[in-house]
Amino acid sequence: MSKKPIALITGAAQGIGYACAKALFDDGYDVILSDINAEGVSEAAKELGGTSIACDMGDRAQIEAMFAQISADHGPLSALVNNAGIASPGDFLSYDLDTFDKVIDINLRGVFIATQLAARDMVEHGIAGAIVNMSSINAQVAIPAIPAYCASKGGVMQLTKVAALALAKKQHPRERGWPRFYRYRDDGRRECKPRSVQNGNVAHALGPRW
Ligand SMILES: NC(=O)c1ccc[n+]([C@@H]2O[C@H](COP(=O)([O-])OP(=O)(O)OC[C@H]3O[C@@H](n4cnc5c(N)ncnc54)[C@H](O)[C@@H]3O)[C@@H](O)[C@H]2O)c1
Repeated sequence: MSKKPIALITGAAQGIGYACAKALFDDGYDVILSDINAEGVSEAAKELGGTSIACDMGDRAQIEAMFAQISADHGPLSALVNNAGIASPGDFLSYDLDTFDKVIDINLRGVFIATQLAARDMVEHGIAGAIVNMSSINAQVAIPAIPAYCASKGGVMQLTKVAALALAKKQHPRERGWPRFYRYRDDGRRECKPRSVQNGNVAHALGPRW
């Protein structure tokens, strides 16, 4: 069992996922790097001094097995970065349904499964943890060549807002880290008094009017 806070980063063999793993390692986390690329993630973990787990985020059984392994070998998570993602470009009219399903499974369904498992763990152990879901500008900006990617990232954006609101109420009363949503004035200055979800003020939290 680790004495440091534990962070799991998916899609961490390279790119943004690896950079997140490095940043968390530098911040004192015990980092677990996961990726479908078993060899690549093993090398990346060795470079950082972390642990690696091969996992396909499009496969529910593999995700569940990964969380069970982490729980048994390391303990409860303090941070999860849902970073693994694929784009799979293609023409809209001939876009293959299996490809669409694959992108959604990895980019959205896998994010939901991992977010839920990590959140259950954090709630059970009273950990005020952090879950970061990697969306994209394509959650809002539509590019015709990547239909499934745009749809999945839009889903991730909304799923993350839902999770933030659902989980805000689960935090232990001792924790002072209730999510707060500040409104910014036109001059860029923040209003002094935050709106807190603690008082049930969730209806507009994270909504477009903010
Ligand atoms: N690079 C960008 O400009 C950009 C912009 C917006 C959002 N993003 C998002 O950030 C994340 C990382 O982007 P990146 O540019 O570092 O990508 P990348 O392609 O460099 O790395 C993605 C990693 O995910 C892994 N991966 C792919 N399929 C997987 C699966 N089924 N299960 C587990 N791991 C899998 C790959 O092996 C790879 O190591 C993605 O979710 C991407 O959509 C990237």
